[in-house]
Amino acid sequence: MYILANWKNKLSSESSKSLANDIYSRLVHQYLNIEIVIFPDDISLLGVKSILDSLSIVKIGAQDGPLDRTSSLTGSISAPNLSNVCDYVLLGHSERRIQLGETNEMVALKATVAIELGLVPVICVTKGTGTALDPYSEIKAQLESIQDHIRRQGKYLIAYEPIDAIGTGISADPQEIKNTAETIRKMLSGLQGSSDIPVLYGGSVNAKNVNSFLSLEGIDGVLVGGESLNVDSFLKIVQKASDTQHSR
Ligand code: PGA
Repeated sequence: MYILANWKNKLSSESSKSLANDIYSRLVHQYLNIEIVIFPDDISLLGVKSILDSLSIVKIGAQDGPLDRTSSLTGSISAPNLSNVCDYVLLGHSERRIQLGETNEMVALKATVAIELGLVPVICVTKGTGTALDPYSEIKAQLESIQDHIRRQGKYLIAYEPIDAIGTGISADPQEIKNTAETIRKMLSGLQGSSDIPVLYGGSVNAKNVNSFLSLEGIDGVLVGGESLNVDSFLKIVQKASDTQHSR
């Protein structure tokens, strides 16, 4: 089960280190079968990594990755720096798709580079409005693009994040999440013959509602934004995830 913390650009590097220190000192349990991944902003990556490095269940990820391995691109983290510091990389978050115009193809290229570097991409997909005939057409296009580029087998995660659930305090309906996760799985198994790619849910996840997502068949974890910035809320989410896992 995956518990991912997307800190976005909400914290100064000092606050990021302080939150990492709080997590380090209060994460007392060795939770079984839980992988926590923290995504600080680029400036804070090294500091957070040095604090959390010795906790085996905590991994570090960047919030974006390079488009290719060698060419220069001002403003982009380089491939060697990324692979030296991170285990994961978050790609295609809807904030980037909408505000920077990131296309499915760009996200897929970044995922390919990440896999070549030995990193695990977490690819965010979103449903949008779809078409009258097919409400899942946008997700399908996003997944097909990934499949076109990821030719070599490599591990990746899919995070389903409905846009209107992000940062609004109004999470998606669990039944809708279950249906979408099932559809994503069917599409992935049709596209690459594999249905064991982890599918996560993200959008206004908190300690009170996390059980309703993690208990869903076909959901392997959550991507948490706002509620991951507070150590109490975040560790409660981790605890609830562990409880849910035992009752599954
Ligand atoms: P949220 O953000 O939990 O604050 O809704 C989730 C995300 O943007 O990944």
